[in-house]
Amino acid sequence: MRMVDIIEKKRDGQALTQEEIEFFITGYTNGDIPDYQASSLAMAIYFQDMNDDERAALTMAMVNSGDVIDLSNINGIKVDKHSTGGVGDTTTLVLAPLVAAVGVPVAKMSGRGLGHTGGTIDKLESVEGFHVEITEDKFVQLVNEAKVAVIGQTGNLTPADKKLYGLRDVTGTVNSIPLIASSIMSKKIAAGADAIVLDVKTGNGAFMKTIEDAEALAHAMVRIGNNVGRNTMAIISDMGQPLGNAIGNALEVKEAIETLQGKGPEDLTELVMTLGSQMVVVGGKANDLDEARNLLKRAIENGSALETFRTFLENQDGDGSVVDDVSKLPQAKYQTELLAESSGVITEIIANEVGVASMMLGAGRQTKEDDIDLSVGLELHKKVGDKVNAGESLLTIHSNQEQIDDVKAKLLQSITISESGDAPTLIHKIITE
Ligand code: URA
Ligand code: CA
Repeated sequence: MRMVDIIEKKRDGQALTQEEIEFFITGYTNGDIPDYQASSLAMAIYFQDMNDDERAALTMAMVNSGDVIDLSNINGIKVDKHSTGGVGDTTTLVLAPLVAAVGVPVAKMSGRGLGHTGGTIDKLESVEGFHVEITEDKFVQLVNEAKVAVIGQTGNLTPADKKLYGLRDVTGTVNSIPLIASSIMSKKIAAGADAIVLDVKTGNGAFMKTIEDAEALAHAMVRIGNNVGRNTMAIISDMGQPLGNAIGNALEVKEAIETLQGKGPEDLTELVMTLGSQMVVVGGKANDLDEARNLLKRAIENGSALETFRTFLENQDGDGSVVDDVSKLPQAKYQTELLAESSGVITEIIANEVGVASMMLGAGRQTKEDDIDLSVGLELHKKVGDKVNAGESLLTIHSNQEQIDDVKAKLLQSITISESGDAPTLIHKIITE
């Protein structure tokens, strides 16, 4: 087989065989196929697309390019949730203990944050003592006993995707549905998921800016999942404004605890219930989404979700008593209110910009080596659609530096107050096929 023939075949709009796709991925991973040929093929795929069989073959070839996590010693259907990324996205912190409380095993491999979107591990490390440096054996044991554990990234997962994603980034080929869908799905499958629930974000804070693009990506991923034997569902959710009220590591843990107590923000709670219901159904613990939602409601009302969170933290050496007393979480030195400059209705809170403001306070990393400040961040008091009077507080800034004029200016620029406006739709669509 020759790479140049594969490139020409795709350039001319023909479908590649599984063998050709495997030849490309294996050769590219081990260095036999150079970047210039790989980028040429990526561009051909960008223009000519791939059919369902090609997408499934590409996904599995990338899965098999490196280690695959074996979770077969964990009882039950391992369901993983993936979000395409957002600002102040506290869902994983709430979902993991919540669905575990109704019996769905959550064996989560997680990463740290980079840029203005936070990482689940960073957030959890706000809890004194908590860590994710556990052995794979311990991880499996904890999930079997307590239904939930989180481990840091281990193994050499999907090296083909790492290499190809880096190449796409500099060759104008990131924005291709077959390439994005196979990239995301390969990582979930290599991490051991039997079933996958996807939260595809749309809006200015998201990778996919329009609902149409988000829907196309969601359909593509759901089809790949189901074609390779992983039950997969997706929702399309809004990421125009930040999710929930808290943005920042410790602040989001506090928000997660409040949500597990049934006192969380409306949008975060609704998103958690929607995604959680899907996880419970694909995890085989309920027959339909209504039954699943009722199970989750009961777990919040009877306190079992919160107790599962406490046990989970303690199992990984964290101070579980934070669930009774959130003031044990790291606190920033200064709390400053950002006041509205005019009266009206909030019509826009640009998620990306608010994420950048939070990073300026020290809540996020600019490079992989940066230290982050777990205590700082933002707490929104108003969301899109809310009325506000001039002089009323829009949000509280938690900082360890006194001088935050640049952060205040950035935030005022990213919040729009007009005469009238409505709250956005949070869940645009549910995609099961
Ligand atoms: N996120 C990924 O993991 N892969 C892509 O290709 C795009 C976004
Ligand atoms: Ca939040």
